[in-house]
Amino acid sequence: MLTKSEIHTRLAGRRAGYSLERDLYCDDGVFAADLENVFYREWLFAAPSAALPKAGSYVTLQIGAYPVVVVRGNDGMVRAFHNVCRHRGQRLCAKDTGTTPKLVCPYHQWTYELDGKLAYARDMQDGFDPAAHGLKKVHCVDLGGMVFLCLAQVPPPIADLAKHLMSYLAPSGLKEAKVAHTSTIVEKGNWKLVIENNRECYHCGGSHPSLCRTYSDNPRMTAMEGPDKASPDIMDHWARCEAAGLPSRFVHHPQMQWRLARIPLLNNAESYTMDTKAAVARRMGTMPFNDAGSLLFYHYPNTWNHFLGDHAIVFRVLPISATETEVTTTWLVHKDAVEGVDYDLQNLTTVWMATNDEDRQVVEENQKGILSPAYEPGPYSTLQEEGVIQFVDWYVGLMTDRLSPLHAQAAE
Ligand code: FES
Ligand SMILES: [Fe+2]
Repeated sequence: MLTKSEIHTRLAGRRAGYSLERDLYCDDGVFAADLENVFYREWLFAAPSAALPKAGSYVTLQIGAYPVVVVRGNDGMVRAFHNVCRHRGQRLCAKDTGTTPKLVCPYHQWTYELDGKLAYARDMQDGFDPAAHGLKKVHCVDLGGMVFLCLAQVPPPIADLAKHLMSYLAPSGLKEAKVAHTSTIVEKGNWKLVIENNRECYHCGGSHPSLCRTYSDNPRMTAMEGPDKASPDIMDHWARCEAAGLPSRFVHHPQMQWRLARIPLLNNAESYTMDTKAAVARRMGTMPFNDAGSLLFYHYPNTWNHFLGDHAIVFRVLPISATETEVTTTWLVHKDAVEGVDYDLQNLTTVWMATNDEDRQVVEENQKGILSPAYEPGPYSTLQEEGVIQFVDWYVGLMTDRLSPLHAQAAE
């Protein structure tokens, strides 16, 4: 298990433009450092707010060592708490999702309001102060229908992302959406391999026959490399969509921690379906036409998303161990769309259920190869894998800064 200083040395000495060395994808010390410096400090995507449709709706998630519950209050606000009872520490909510009028601990029934206040604790002695035993808060924001949380005492700034994301998401009407389907899979690979695989489509032609019916694997068509290298087709798409009130142009964080861009699908396809047509008869929000393509949004370290005319697909990535990662996919449709009438669930989910499984297989085989002592870092294609280069540069930059001896001294 590598120490922090060994990890810092490896990261600082890595060869730019090449995949990372073996230990950075499998060592338990690196995994602990990734949790401490990335997942416990950055904003993380938790759930679409449509997964919390009414007061008392909750979603739970496990971020490294931290169980967290996200719950909608009676006032409509979405809040996040450590999912840990203030009596003797029982996990409060064990299910992935649910609805409850109050949060009741299953052990001795201490009962919390949806805003975290302790409402009831049976047979506690005089002098016990309920006000001092409310649930511990986790920072939580709802950005246009996407709920993010942050475990840090002082979260990083989020105003710039909030401004752009809320503007780009507004026509998609995520707050008037409902969950049509959720799928959770575990990939036997390091979380960085899961993100790296998502950040390129070099593998799409060989791995994703159904996705490739509608999604271009040409990086210039998907704005992977930034607006400067985008093809004329994508420029035309941006002009048409923006004239119809859809923010579309490539916008991004200075170090590429997040990126938004609306891309056209292949051959005027409407949706990620086998027949390329819209899967849902009722369009999302105020989307003006079916062939608006896909608004792509990613945010490191744990989400990528597609917002189409007829539905949205949001993805959440959570690390389980050095070589295991949970990926949760949620399909959202207009809240008034009726299954069996306005959409067929199989038709809606086929392409990305297949794509997720195909990605799971390549990530797992990638991890197996990297575990070999014969593995050595290989060169990324600057034409096809610019997105991977950007992700690895972001990760290495953040980790070398946070693990640097100077930083460690300042924190002591
Ligand atoms: S641990 Fe929750 S009520 Fe006792
Ligand atoms: Fe893929």
